[in-house]
Amino acid sequence: MKKVAVVVGTRPEAIKMAPVYLELKKSKTLQPLLLSTGQHQQMLEQALGAFGLTPDHDLKLMAPGQQLVDLTARVLTSVYQSLLELQPAAILVQGDTTTVFAASLAAAFADIPIGHVEAGLRTYQMRSPWPEEMNRRLTSPLCRWAFAPTEVSRRNLIQEQIPAENCHVTGNSVIDALLFIRDRLGSSGVIGQDVAARNAISAQFTETFLSADSERRFILVTGHRRESFGEGFENICRALLEIVEKYSDVGVLYPVHLNPNVRKPVDEILRGHPGIELIEPVGYLDFVWLMNRSFFILSDSGGVQEEAPSLGKPVLVMRESTERPEGVDAGTCRLVGTNPQVIIREVAELLGNSEEYSRRAALKNPYGDGQTARRIREILERDLG
Ligand code: UD1
Ligand code: UDP
Repeated sequence: MKKVAVVVGTRPEAIKMAPVYLELKKSKTLQPLLLSTGQHQQMLEQALGAFGLTPDHDLKLMAPGQQLVDLTARVLTSVYQSLLELQPAAILVQGDTTTVFAASLAAAFADIPIGHVEAGLRTYQMRSPWPEEMNRRLTSPLCRWAFAPTEVSRRNLIQEQIPAENCHVTGNSVIDALLFIRDRLGSSGVIGQDVAARNAISAQFTETFLSADSERRFILVTGHRRESFGEGFENICRALLEIVEKYSDVGVLYPVHLNPNVRKPVDEILRGHPGIELIEPVGYLDFVWLMNRSFFILSDSGGVQEEAPSLGKPVLVMRESTERPEGVDAGTCRLVGTNPQVIIREVAELLGNSEEYSRRAALKNPYGDGQTARRIREILERDLG
């Protein structure tokens, strides 16, 4: 059996790599090893938990309030050391985090072939999102396999002179993850009270918005982009305040990311406000349940933009640009930036214009069919022999 190191560091990598790891477990020729950098600690453990996974090797590299340069250096040297010890035949990285770029660089130095899951996403604006656009652009030339989620992303790679024979359109494994969780949700009969109890959601919010007979609408919010730290987050919080003041029958549920740069303004501006329910990051199973139950989503998350079209939930994307144009083309996602006036105007439209809402809530699948992990396994089995 040839070893394949499946590298994860943060929440979205855990969610999107879990199906790939589980699929490689089925291989008769390849043996996956789940190697965590621990760039995220609690949120990685929580995300892997939804799939019943724990890392085979955990480098535990997270430091509170970590800086990009230190984290990059720690991941580079620690992953390099692990690769020397484990001697895998290949490594897989996913997405655009510091873990992805630094682990890829380590593998390049160790002369181990790299497969990049979710390759080819681009805004072509280096600072938006930052540092993700840089990470994925620096990673692509290092890779032996580029697993592009869509034809759009494959074309980006080809245009950058990445050899066509290295590029494969596989879909995005986030859809494999979503379908896996939807099956579990279907068979487990989870109800609002369960989700509320697990996530310390108040009795009042639960009764008003999550109970089986409630028809009241709530907006699900997430946010964490570095380029929005400071003024951007303050603007987002002020927009949320105005929304709940203007629409007293609409709730806001906001699982707050653990990054201190996010928590500070959110706590200072929103904590204790009736109508805004701030909770800790939510496990993936419960988060999928909450996305399904929400009226729409206000977020700057990459993964949420990919999941929403399959769930038929409109997303107002609090960013100026996106590397995921497919969701915008499908009509599900709309870029609204962080200007409070624009956010409030767009929220008003979704709340007040039912025709427009229905158009944007149509189910679409631009990101895959749930077979991404199988395609990746087959390509690796063929090429690694
Ligand atoms: C990281 C990624 C970003 C990705 C996001 C997903 C980088 C530079 N950023 O951003 O691309 O979209 O994850 O959520 O790779 N923290 C905890 N516990 C956790 C996780 C984070 O306490 O489980 C706190 C720590 O203080 C940590 C800080 O958040 O230092 C920042 O974490 P970091 O991974 O550097 O950045 P994110 O904003 O989470
Ligand atoms: N998510 C989750 N719990 C939460 C918020 C998000 O499980 O409280 C999931 C979400 O469904 C998506 C992923 O986490 O699959 C996105 O992670 P994040 O927004 O942290 O990172 P990004 O996708 O922007 O890189």
